[in-house]
Amino acid sequence: MSKPKVIVTRRWPEVVENRLQELYDVQFNRDDHPMSAAELQGALRSADAVLPTVTDPINAEVLRAEPLRCKILGNFGVGFNHIDIDAAKARGLVVTNTPEVLTDCTADIAMLLMLAVARRGMEGDRHVRQGEWTGWRPTHMMGRKVTGKTLGLIGMGRIAQAMARKAHHGFNMKIVFTDPYPPPQTVIDELQAENAGSIEAVLKHADFVSLHCPGGKETYHLLNAERLAMMKPTACLINSARGDVVDNQALIEALRKGTIAGAGLDVFEGEPRLDPGFLELENAVLLPHLGSATLETRIAMGNRVLDNIEAFFNGRAPRDRIA
Ligand code: DGY
Repeated sequence: MSKPKVIVTRRWPEVVENRLQELYDVQFNRDDHPMSAAELQGALRSADAVLPTVTDPINAEVLRAEPLRCKILGNFGVGFNHIDIDAAKARGLVVTNTPEVLTDCTADIAMLLMLAVARRGMEGDRHVRQGEWTGWRPTHMMGRKVTGKTLGLIGMGRIAQAMARKAHHGFNMKIVFTDPYPPPQTVIDELQAENAGSIEAVLKHADFVSLHCPGGKETYHLLNAERLAMMKPTACLINSARGDVVDNQALIEALRKGTIAGAGLDVFEGEPRLDPGFLELENAVLLPHLGSATLETRIAMGNRVLDNIEAFFNGRAPRDRIA
């Protein structure tokens, strides 16, 4: 029997690309360019499985591809707001993602952003490299203490819980959160966490607010000017979730005016294009969407996609089916 045809939209770690090559008739994107809508449609027309990632907009238009050969979209990534799930379902496509394997690394990046913005880590690095450091002195580059402060989590899923664990057990932080689907009481007890009951209550009480909700229509600009104004002027915002959860303009304004103290951002609305306003802000730490970017995690994500499509092609239910 001939092997199923698989198209991978971006480069993956070599070891998983090799595994794919052994199992399938696979087409790689050798120069790793972002595929156009026309190329994505071509992939849907010519392969049994298309393996996109979080930067490939698989929207309703792309999903109109005819004739459709593709049967499964094995997404490399946990977030799937780049895929029009209703349109995919309407075309009879199975869609899978890669949860769990990137939880710790993404929570680590949220911790890194929190520490970097509070303790002015990146700013200090720039200061040293630019030859501006004139020596230790009691008032030099004072930041904000993290240990013992209150961490507010908007969304309390896997990544938020992992961050809460590191922050509570490692930094003695008090955890407050809000989520329409709160975690089990055992998790809440382990973290001595408090369900604040609303986004507004979290914003009012937290010294650090970290976002952990999915992107998409429902959370678009969840943090707007009005809500940012509810944060303490000494508080910092951390976003390792999705850029469009925050209104960029409102955030830049809040950081400029100092109505909040700082922001640590791994994701941006419209990324990789960045509002130039961010670049002028010393109180913002900016990373290029590195949440899951460790070799171990990226290999695990690739393997998870492979497990999902292998199950599908063997007539079993893929473990991470979302549609
Ligand atoms: C995801 O998987 O959704 C991240 O944004 C990239 O790892």
